[in-house]
Amino acid sequence: MKAQIYRASIYHTTRNPFTHAGALEHIYDGGLLVENGRVQAVGDFSKVARGLPSEVEVHDLRGGFILPGFIDMHVHYPQVRVIGSLGDPLLAWLERSALPAEARLSEPGHARAIASEFLEALAANGTTTALVFGAHFAPAMEIFLDLARDSGLRIASGLVLADRTLPPAFHVSPRQAYELSNQLIRRCAGPGLVSYAVTPRFALSCSEAMLEVCQTLLREHPEVRFQTHINENAAEIDAVARMFPWAGDYLAVYEKFSLAGSRSVLAHNVHVSASELERLARTGAAVAHCPCSNAALGSGFFPLARHLAANVRVALGTDIGAGTGFSLLKEALQAYLLQRLAPDDGFPLTAAHLLYLATRAGAVALGMEDETGDLTVGRSADFVYLRPAANSPLAAIARNAEDAERLLAAIFTLADSSMVAGTWVGGRRVHGG
Ligand code: GUN
Ligand code: ZN
Repeated sequence: MKAQIYRASIYHTTRNPFTHAGALEHIYDGGLLVENGRVQAVGDFSKVARGLPSEVEVHDLRGGFILPGFIDMHVHYPQVRVIGSLGDPLLAWLERSALPAEARLSEPGHARAIASEFLEALAANGTTTALVFGAHFAPAMEIFLDLARDSGLRIASGLVLADRTLPPAFHVSPRQAYELSNQLIRRCAGPGLVSYAVTPRFALSCSEAMLEVCQTLLREHPEVRFQTHINENAAEIDAVARMFPWAGDYLAVYEKFSLAGSRSVLAHNVHVSASELERLARTGAAVAHCPCSNAALGSGFFPLARHLAANVRVALGTDIGAGTGFSLLKEALQAYLLQRLAPDDGFPLTAAHLLYLATRAGAVALGMEDETGDLTVGRSADFVYLRPAANSPLAAIARNAEDAERLLAAIFTLADSSMVAGTWVGGRRVHGG
């Protein structure tokens, strides 16, 4: 395929704005040169275009914005149609809304329909990479992993494991969990953008034998990741304490089985102690912050300042279906809004922080920062093109904004999925056009 140049206003964060001043890069009339799926050059359009052979194809996208593809660190594939089940806290919401919908994925035809809806929604919202909570049923996972490969998106996912507390239809024995997970890990082997994540639902749904199986899977497969939930809701935390009386806190349950390490992403972590934060930082586990879900389920305010002070890696997750939509733009705005309202030490997020949390922070948390998350030369060409409607408030702000960060703040505040005019992964268009 011949080289392509995309001409638009370009934003990315090549470093961490929480620790580095000037991490936000903006190129007003930018050119992104893509060849063989990789970024070959990025900079002023006039410079990038100079001296290139005439067969380079130029896409004039002026009037819109190119950002790195969004990274969703926590999202549930079986819960697409659960979105908007408002009114309950976590455990009642699981029982009344999420689990009944997830039970239907035992039927493969239904699982296929849901998987397609889910993957299309990711691409349509500009998400190029996602760490996905899967289904409890192996056939539904086979279908999902195959469709994920066909979608062209960068997806890590795994069979969700439970052997207690949830209704029996969701249970597998630890031995079955080991065998089924191994089969699915084999399905993800080889080149491609789909990888595996060992996925116990949460401590509450797992016996110690099940958590031990997770430990074995991680030991036997150094390439697989780990994901689960932690410290989301007060009633959940109390139940975990009763179920694992030997554990000093929630994290101790996962630590006992070596499940909190540099390959781990733990979702929520709203109610976390100082000791847990210190141990998370030491082991290198990352936290998925899901502010829309935290608000919708009334889980609580996420202590972002404490995570940052402790040096725990944080990135954003939509947590569909408890979350309120697939857009990382909206998720980032919600993170900002809730930090403004937090009763204690809310962190004052800037637009550069929001862009970082929605893109490069996820890549760093997944250990993929050399591959995706910004538009540095050499990265996979994973990007989204946002185009405001003519005559929209955002288009007016773009024409008049005096500084780049002010405009980026307006993009996060006003943008929605209708503005996502194109999504590319590895230079291949996966949405729009
Ligand atoms: N904890 C265990 N399962 C779930 C889930 O599906 N969503 C959320 N938000 N928390 C969970
Ligand atoms: Zn979740």
